[in-house]
This record gives sequence, C-alpha cells and structure tokens, in this order.
Amino acid sequence: MASPTPLFFLFFLITTASFPKSSRTQSISETSNGEGFMAMELSERGLEFLKDLLINKAIASTIPLKLPRLEKSAKFPFLGNVQMTLTGITIDEIDVLSSYVKPGDTGVAIIASGMTCNLSMNWYYKYSSWLLPVEISDKGNASVQVEGMEVGLTLGLKNQNGSLKLSAMECGCIVRGIKINVDGGASWLYQGMIDAFAGRITSAVESTITKNLKDGIDKLDAFLQSLPKEIPVDNIASLNVTFLSDPLLTSNSIQFDINGLFMARQNTSSTSMEYFRNSQSSVLCSDPSKMLGIELDEAVFNSACALYYNAKFMQWIVDKIPDQALLNTAGWRFIAPKLYKKYPNDDMNLNISLSSPPVISVSEQKIDATVNAALIINVLEANQAIPVACVSFEVSGSASVRISGNNLAGSMKLDGFTMIQNWSDVGNLPLFVIQPVMWTAIETVFLPYVNAHLAQGIPLPIVHGFALQNAETVTTSSKITVCGDVAYRDDKQRTELHI
Ligand SMILES: *[C@@H]1O[C@H](CO)[C@@H](O)[C@H](O)[C@H]1NC(C)=O
Ligand SMILES: *[C@@H]1O[C@H](CO)[C@@H](O)[C@H](O)[C@H]1NC(C)=O
Ligand SMILES: *[C@@H]1O[C@H](CO)[C@@H](O)[C@H](O)[C@H]1NC(C)=O
Ligand SMILES: *[C@@H]1O[C@H](CO)[C@@H](O)[C@H](O)[C@H]1NC(C)=O
Ligand SMILES: *[C@@H]1O[C@H](CO)[C@@H](O)[C@H](O)[C@H]1NC(C)=O
Ligand SMILES: *[C@@H]1O[C@H](CO)[C@@H](O)[C@H](O)[C@H]1NC(C)=O
Ligand SMILES: *[C@@H]1O[C@H](CO)[C@@H](O)[C@H](O)[C@H]1NC(C)=O
Repeated sequence: MASPTPLFFLFFLITTASFPKSSRTQSISETSNGEGFMAMELSERGLEFLKDLLINKAIASTIPLKLPRLEKSAKFPFLGNVQMTLTGITIDEIDVLSSYVKPGDTGVAIIASGMTCNLSMNWYYKYSSWLLPVEISDKGNASVQVEGMEVGLTLGLKNQNGSLKLSAMECGCIVRGIKINVDGGASWLYQGMIDAFAGRITSAVESTITKNLKDGIDKLDAFLQSLPKEIPVDNIASLNVTFLSDPLLTSNSIQFDINGLFMARQNTSSTSMEYFRNSQSSVLCSDPSKMLGIELDEAVFNSACALYYNAKFMQWIVDKIPDQALLNTAGWRFIAPKLYKKYPNDDMNLNISLSSPPVISVSEQKIDATVNAALIINVLEANQAIPVACVSFEVSGSASVRISGNNLAGSMKLDGFTMIQNWSDVGNLPLFVIQPVMWTAIETVFLPYVNAHLAQGIPLPIVHGFALQNAETVTTSSKITVCGDVAYRDDKQRTELHI
C-alpha cells in the first residue's frame, strides 16, 4: 500500500485549519408548544439543601439587625410620668431549631420554627416630679431573650419573560414570648419596662424580620432576573437557557423546563430548525438521594451539530500537504491514469465538507453518532478549480459521556466507516487504496480532534457558585440524564446570593 497519501495529511490539516472569522450562521428554534429540550428537577433533598442555604444566608446577611428606637412614657405612683427610651436595639444572633420546605399548589412554603434570638439595647429614662426641683435620669443596658419565634414564607415561582420570577406571596413572623433582663436600674423600672415595652419590642422584632425577609426575596428575585438567558459555550455557540412555562411543583420536587438548544452567539440570519421531543419524564432521577436531575434531549446535541454545520465550520479546502507531490496530477499517474491523462501536471486541492449535520441518537444502550461527508477532488487549471471526482463517506461512532466540573463532557470512538465514489470525470478512483488510509487518518487525527472538543463538554445550567458533585449519567431512549448533588462554594467576593 502507498506511502502516506494526501488523505492522511488532509485530516492533519483539518485540525490546524483556522476557522473562518465570520460566517453565516443560522439560529434554531424549537417547534415549541412551550416545551424545552432540557429539564431540571430539584428533589426533596435538593430543596432541603437550598432551604438550609437560604436560611443561613438570610440570617448571615440580617445579623446584626438594628431595630428602630422605642420611646414611651408611663405613669408611676409618686414619680408621675416617666419618659423611657430604648436605643441601639440589636439582634446579634438567631438560632433556628427546625425548618422545613414544602412545595404546594400556590408556591413553596418555607417555615422556620423554634427560633430564638437575643436582643441587646440601652435604656434611658427621665422624669421630673413636683416633689423634686431637678430632672432625674439614669441609663443602662438591657437584654431581651426572644423565645419561640416562627417565620413562615410562601415563595411564588413563575416564569416571566423566560426568567424565574420569585415573589413573597405570604411572609410573616410571630414572636411567642420574650424575656426582658435589665442591667442596673431600680425594680420599679424593670417592671415598668416589661409593661411598657414587651408588646412593642415583640412587634418591632416581627415587623423588622418580615421586612428584611421581603427585601431579601426581592434581592434574590433581582439576582434570578439578572441571570443571562444564554450560557456561552465558545465564541460561536451558546446554550439557550430560557425558562419555558412556570415551574412544575409537585409535593416533593420542583421541575423546570428549559429551551436547552444551542444557538449562535454572533449576528445571525435565522432559519428555523425543527426538533421534536419525546415527552419528559416526571421524575428525572430514580435515586431519591440525589439533589438534582438534569435531563437533556438528544435534540440538544443535534442542535449543536446543526449550529456548527450551518456555521460552515465543517468544511475545509486543503491545498498544502507535506508530500506536496501528491497534490499534483503527476503524483496520481499510476493510481488514476485517466486523471493524469486529462490534466497532466496540474495542481490539485481537496474540498472536504460534511454533507449534513452529524446525527446523534441516544438509546438505552448507547449514544450513536453518524457523520456524512464528501470529498471533492479539484484540479486547478488556469486559476480555476475544476471538480473532477467526488467521494462520499459515512463515519459511524459511539460516544460515552461523563461529568467534568459543571459540564457534560464526552468522548467518541469509531465503529465503522464506508466510502463510495459518487461521481468521477476521470474514471474509477482506487477506493481500496484510499479507504484504509482514510480509516487510519480518522482514527489517529480526526478523532483526537473531535475528542479534544468533546472533552470540554457543554455547560449544564447550574447557577454560578454551585458545583455539581457525585454526579452520574444515565442514558435512556433519546435522553441523557445527569443526577447528582450540588455544593455551594462560598466565595466572599460573590455577593449576589446574599439576601
Ligand atoms: C441568648 O442568651 C441566652 C442566655 O444568655 C443563651 O443561653 C442563648 O444561647 C442566647 N441565644 C442566642 C440565640 O444568642
Ligand atoms: C452596656 O453596653 C455597653 C455597650 O453598649 C457595654 O460596653 C457595657 O459593658 C454594657 N454594660 C453592662 C453592664 O452590660
Ligand atoms: C418582557 O420582555 C419584553 C421585551 O424584552 C419587555 O417589553 C417586557 O416589559 C417584559 N415583561 C416583563 C413583565 O418584564
Ligand atoms: C431561546 O429560547 C426561547 C424559548 O424557547 C425562544 O423564544 C428564543 O427564540 C430562543 N432564542 C434563540 C436565539 O433561539
Ligand atoms: C447583523 O448584521 C447586519 C449586517 O451585516 C446588520 O445590518 C444587522 O443590524 C446586524 N444585526 C444584529 C442584531 O447585530
Ligand atoms: C466545496 O464543496 C461544497 C459542496 O460539496 C461546495 O458547496 C463548496 O462551494 C465547495 N467549495 C469550494 C471552495 O469549492
Ligand atoms: C453521493 O451519493 C449518495 C448516494 O447516491 C448520495 O446520498 C449523496 O448525497 C451523494 N453525495 C454527494 C456529495 O453528491
């Protein structure tokens, strides 16, 4: 068999060929009856995790919580009217005994009960009595123990313009009891403080915490609204993470429907591509111990293939190879005598293009990929490229997927390869010579190139700051599902989630 032929190097060149700077690209839109190609489900455990995170964040950002000053005058026997003031009322710590989260028809209920907190404050009083010629005043500290506080919240989750809209549908705080400790002061003052202020401290705590919670939800909502609707994949493509329809709330999970298709990042002239999706599973992960499930329809991968194909990223003109003699008809004198006879001593180039976007199909057993490509052999005569022959080939491979960080990465191996001559103006080409060389070339050069790209993977729609952990992938008919846990990377620099 021949020494390295042009075809071998051609694949080497594919790998080093620079991509066109600007390309005509096409955008893709789903057939949409409002259903997306990616779904995300938070399981009971996932909701627990988020609830605990939210409560901890909410408390951390609330503390120290300052309450407005309170003033009151009260009548005391002999002393008359005493003006009492509490200032610097501060909650320094809040403990939560138990909390739970429950999705319902109207929203997600989060309840924290058995909460306790301590308030510190300064007291001050003054009075003037007809008995005394001067005004009397004194000051000191006091602390209040709040016992049996409960906070309840119903979060509304809606889809608004493709983003998640969060609202506090109901929000309340109830203080069941407080205990006031006064440092210093007389015993009449102690009693007076309790009588005068117990109710007002209670309602100040209740209203301040409620207001804080509402502000927190507004901030969290603003954060969700500000999340981009696309996640960049590279400088060509991004993933459309527009939310479709309202989240689906069941008794123990929340499911989100996401468009999930690849779209062009650059200026597009748009042509619709239609994808059909099989119905979505109602429970994405069978393992209930996993916090999160993300289901990707095979259309996601096919939209990526279509995008790169339409962007003409899968077409290459090869006119330089190490053994340049083979890009001259003279080099083909013995392999294809008719070619040499018709075009003696002319330079040649090779035009390789995919005939259609690669097709990915997912089944329970495996993920198949089929690539159809055409190789057109051009003879260059008088500055003109004359196509003289066309060979088309089909490569089939199978892919495996894995999780890499927050990305779904993959790798591919070759299963088969067929090649036929479509047409030729220069007689039959010796395919039996070309075919084994092509196979080697694809395996040693083209495949590593594809795998290098697949290794980077596609981003899963996970909010920045959260990391996927203990994840596994499951393939079912036309779908790949990622099931895993999430961890929150507490990064001091990031404040978006601080509510
Ligand atoms: C409140 O103060 C009491 C008594 O000093 C203490 O036992 C308790 O741990 C404190 N609670 C909080 C939430 O700081
Ligand atoms: C009263 O509070 C001040 C700070 O507000 C503190 O420095 C002081 O030690 C407290 N006094 C008592 C008796 O707790
Ligand atoms: C939705 O988006 C459109 C266009 O971007 C905008 O005009 C409209 O105000 C948005 N609606 C809401 C409720 O934000
Ligand atoms: C992204 O998805 C939304 C919802 O399906 C769709 O309306 C929008 O056109 C998509 N964007 C692009 C650029 O395809
Ligand atoms: C896309 O490019 C064309 C010209 O190339 C320009 O007229 C059009 O405004 C651009 N559209 C966007 C959305 O940038
Ligand atoms: C390469 O071939 C494709 C179709 O096979 C064709 O559309 C394209 O124009 C060709 N390119 C050149 C530079 O000949
Ligand atoms: C080559 O021939 C096959 C089968 O006849 C056809 O399906 C394919 O479209 C042809 N390819 C080109 C590039 O002409």
